[in-house]
Amino acid sequence: MTLTREIKTGVTWVGAIDWDRRLFDALIPLPDGTSYNSYLIQGSEKTALIDPVDESMVDVLLGNLGALGIERIDYIIAQHAEQDHSGGLKRLLEIYPDAKVVGSARCLDLLKEFGLVDNDSVQEAKDGEMLSLGDKSLEFIHAPWVHWPDTIFTYLAKERILFTCDFLGSHLATSDLFAVDEAAVYRAAKRYYAEIMMPFRQSINRHLARIEDLQIDIIAPSHGPLYGRPEFILDAYRDWASDRVKNQVVLPYVSMHGSTRIMADYFVDALISRGVAVKRFDLTDYDVGELAESLVDAATVVIGTPTILAGAHPLALYAAVLANALRPKTRYASIIGSFGWGGKMLEQITVALPNLKLQLLDPVIAKGRPKEADFKALDRLAEEISVMHREL
Ligand code: FEO
Repeated sequence: MTLTREIKTGVTWVGAIDWDRRLFDALIPLPDGTSYNSYLIQGSEKTALIDPVDESMVDVLLGNLGALGIERIDYIIAQHAEQDHSGGLKRLLEIYPDAKVVGSARCLDLLKEFGLVDNDSVQEAKDGEMLSLGDKSLEFIHAPWVHWPDTIFTYLAKERILFTCDFLGSHLATSDLFAVDEAAVYRAAKRYYAEIMMPFRQSINRHLARIEDLQIDIIAPSHGPLYGRPEFILDAYRDWASDRVKNQVVLPYVSMHGSTRIMADYFVDALISRGVAVKRFDLTDYDVGELAESLVDAATVVIGTPTILAGAHPLALYAAVLANALRPKTRYASIIGSFGWGGKMLEQITVALPNLKLQLLDPVIAKGRPKEADFKALDRLAEEISVMHREL
């Protein structure tokens, strides 16, 4: 079977839906699969293809192009070199050997390093440069650090379509070409933002400002559905990438013999009773993407860990390392947990968070089972957090 879907005259989706993929970067769970969107732009004189797909799906792309009777492609626009968009290049160039691969200088360098192109088949796209296809023109907009240094957007001015590659996308396999169920797409797009965009918040804000004045009817990312109502996703990104945080505590915790769990239970109730929202994650059984998503706008993170092998539990350390890499805009952090005979649990968690500009609140560490003084300390921490959050 083949699947092609016309977006506007001469602009056709020819990509692949990956219904079954469940892991990305050997790290990120994909509960809803993903798609590798590829777009065919047919001008009166030339034909361009935006973003070849993941290598695993190149036969799907080639089948779609074959179904449309495409015998010549003049330009393959590589908006980004990561392999989920570039992996199909080599096969594509075998079938369409006259095509020039167009991308930023950084992207072309990376494609060469990956062995996907050679010097003869490339053409640099400079920032602001136009590429004419006859009655259609592509404008290239450099957008580095969304999440690699090489990305470009492609703007079709007359058709008012902006192609954004990873930016504004979502890992969502769906039969909807456009975002119809906006609540579902919002959740998937927020999770996707958290997983790869969040560390580059300042760049995201620059790119949002750069495209602010473009006339856009359709945003066409390279993962997930397109947006026929661009303000939906642009407003969401403006919110996520802003400095605003929400009255919410994220509590990733792990417990070995129950003491830290008793503290987590008590602490969650202490926060809720003070009007603070809580997202709680048992680190022995959780979804990394959901944890990342919860970090997008929570004001506070509290990590719960027992002491093992004279230090923090490795699962808690992993959560701290992950939060540090994702660089959320979290303002406050603390640690709760327990120990039996000693250890460097506090120091280990604290030094794992150097990227975060946090105010550290006094931790609550119980010796053995938590006792009355420990519960009082948890009340004190919950109260401190609720007061801080009222001032947000
Ligand atoms: Fe979808 Fe950065 O690749």
